[in-house]
Amino acid sequence: MEKFLVTSALPYANGKLHIGHVAGAYLPADIFVRFQKLQKNDVLYVCGTDEHGAPISIKAEKEGVKPEDIVERYHTSIKGSFDGLGFNFDNFSGTARAQHHKLSQHFFTSLLENKFITIKTNDQFYCEQCKRFLADRYVEGICPHCGKEGARGDQCDHCGQLLDAIELGNPQCKICGSTPIIKATSHWFLELPKMEQQLKEWLETKKYWKDNVHRFIMNWLKEGLIERAITRDIDWGVPVPLEDSQGKVLYVWFDAPIGYISSTIEWANKIGQPEKWKEYWLDENTKLIHFIGKDNIPFHTIIWPAILMGQKEKYILPYDVPANEYLNLEGKKISTSNNYAIWVEDFLKYFDGEYLRYYLATNAPETKDSDFVWKEFQQKINSELANVLGNLANRTFSFSKKYFNGEIQRPENLSNNAADCLQKGYDLSKEIQDCYKNYKVRKVTQLGIQIVRNGNVFFDLTKPWVEVKNDKSKAAETLYVCSELLRIISIVFSPIIPNGMKKLRNILNLSSDFYWDNIENNQIQQTTIGEVKPLFPKIDDKAIEEQILLLETNTKTQKDSQDKVLKIEHKKEIDFEDFLKLEIRIVKIISAEKIKKSKKLLKLKVQFANEERDVVAGLSLHYKPEDLIDKKVTMLLNLKPRKIMGQLSQGMILAAEGVEGKLSVLIPEKDIIAGSLIS
Ligand code: MF3
Ligand code: ZN
Repeated sequence: MEKFLVTSALPYANGKLHIGHVAGAYLPADIFVRFQKLQKNDVLYVCGTDEHGAPISIKAEKEGVKPEDIVERYHTSIKGSFDGLGFNFDNFSGTARAQHHKLSQHFFTSLLENKFITIKTNDQFYCEQCKRFLADRYVEGICPHCGKEGARGDQCDHCGQLLDAIELGNPQCKICGSTPIIKATSHWFLELPKMEQQLKEWLETKKYWKDNVHRFIMNWLKEGLIERAITRDIDWGVPVPLEDSQGKVLYVWFDAPIGYISSTIEWANKIGQPEKWKEYWLDENTKLIHFIGKDNIPFHTIIWPAILMGQKEKYILPYDVPANEYLNLEGKKISTSNNYAIWVEDFLKYFDGEYLRYYLATNAPETKDSDFVWKEFQQKINSELANVLGNLANRTFSFSKKYFNGEIQRPENLSNNAADCLQKGYDLSKEIQDCYKNYKVRKVTQLGIQIVRNGNVFFDLTKPWVEVKNDKSKAAETLYVCSELLRIISIVFSPIIPNGMKKLRNILNLSSDFYWDNIENNQIQQTTIGEVKPLFPKIDDKAIEEQILLLETNTKTQKDSQDKVLKIEHKKEIDFEDFLKLEIRIVKIISAEKIKKSKKLLKLKVQFANEERDVVAGLSLHYKPEDLIDKKVTMLLNLKPRKIMGQLSQGMILAAEGVEGKLSVLIPEKDIIAGSLIS
């Protein structure tokens, strides 16, 4: 038996849970835990909310409430979302609890005594407008490593490098937008350089980690490790356990991972065996596995292990850190500040949580970013769960009820075809087992659906509806094979869609207490089909259209209420020659009409000098055709002609986004002759 301690990144208690979180650090962990439990392994799964950090105290200030109130609100909301999705934590704690404070302070003291922490005076950004030191998430600027804008004080999301806020170019206070000044303050620093050798040696033994994680670490080590400040000048957090340190707290990234341990201690207390947490954290046979999103890699693979190494107690170090990439939404980055997200709470009002689990499993961002697309979601559920799996169950069960009173019996001798079909199922289940062990959940869903497809093909080929009249035993054999395949899937899919598979087992009259190891030995001998209920109702088009609309309106309202400061992503520099290649001219629109079957497109005819051209423009939601006629607008003429919805388009009308996302064509300020060149 193996022993696992599994964690998911502690979500910040300052916002609701969205699908991106679920796909990154939570669903993969819950699936892994359920799988390992099916393998009869000893698994403990802990999590909780990350309740410190400047964002929480700032939100509280804005709302005129206490940070504790914010934490309460989102702890409840996040926990509710997890419950709704059926996540099986052994314990779900929070880092504002007394137990956690005590342990974090102990960690700090222990590092200090082992001389891995030193005090230094350093320069920090201070916003004179807001009268506070800017915790690093509250200053943004240009990343010193990759040169992109919008890097936060602690990390650049673009290149992933951890930063020292002071290195940012063109720094800005994120609250008020003003330029902060530099002011000296004293802080405690974690002496990472002292641990560099030990860390490197340890990381050398982690060659089996996922490629994306490995690549990240190697890049990071190349730059060399520097000391990191682990205290902050704010009043919300774990107080620094030293005299003369009023107003200073431990940095949220210092105390948060310790939350994995304090959550385990809380669990041990709850079950009345207060020492039991040590059987996990202090036993080197435990495999500690941290499920996280990619932005958390440096903290979990370098800083957190360093914190653990610097303790007096001999804690285990992470065995694996299977970080996922990001989940996008309809081709764009999820953005909580723009309300561009699908919140789990909302999702659950419309759909079964298992549908989300299944779709995100088929589409997990395991090796690269993936994309949540509503239409694809509908298509996956309807085709795989309803049409393939639901269909095999439904036809097998109803046929058996109709002709055999629901009795399923293993034939004395299976025909070769039947035995082959079953063997394929068992073989696939072995492959699936390996995939689970290696966090390849996408592949699990593909192989699992293959098992079910084979069942449907077998049903079609053996035609029980014909055989039932010729040779009833042939029909009975088909039903047996299909039921047995359904039993296999009820095991192999149970980590992903546990409730659906429980229902399936109920109908098959199989015990809800089951393990994996005996898939091949535990074949159905005899069973009676119970009450048949639909397993996976289809999602209709209307439901999906509603969601797409909802996403658009949510994002729009959010945009309108935001201040109008645009965030600009600059493009690469070009040469003047590049600019000269563009032929942009003023043209006059002489006709405009809607393109049938398109909501967005207009077909325009434009005129300049003695030429006329046809052009398709995405302006239908922004202009009535008749309002465009006779307008002199700006057009890129030498764009290669293309066909758009069957219409030839010889160029592109230029437009810019105005308020509320309305597009505006560009009209010259003075009267200009059609045909004149923009230069
Ligand atoms: N709250 C952090 C985030 O959402 C994750 C913390 S993970 C922990 O990015 F290890 F620090 F707990
Ligand atoms: Zn400010």
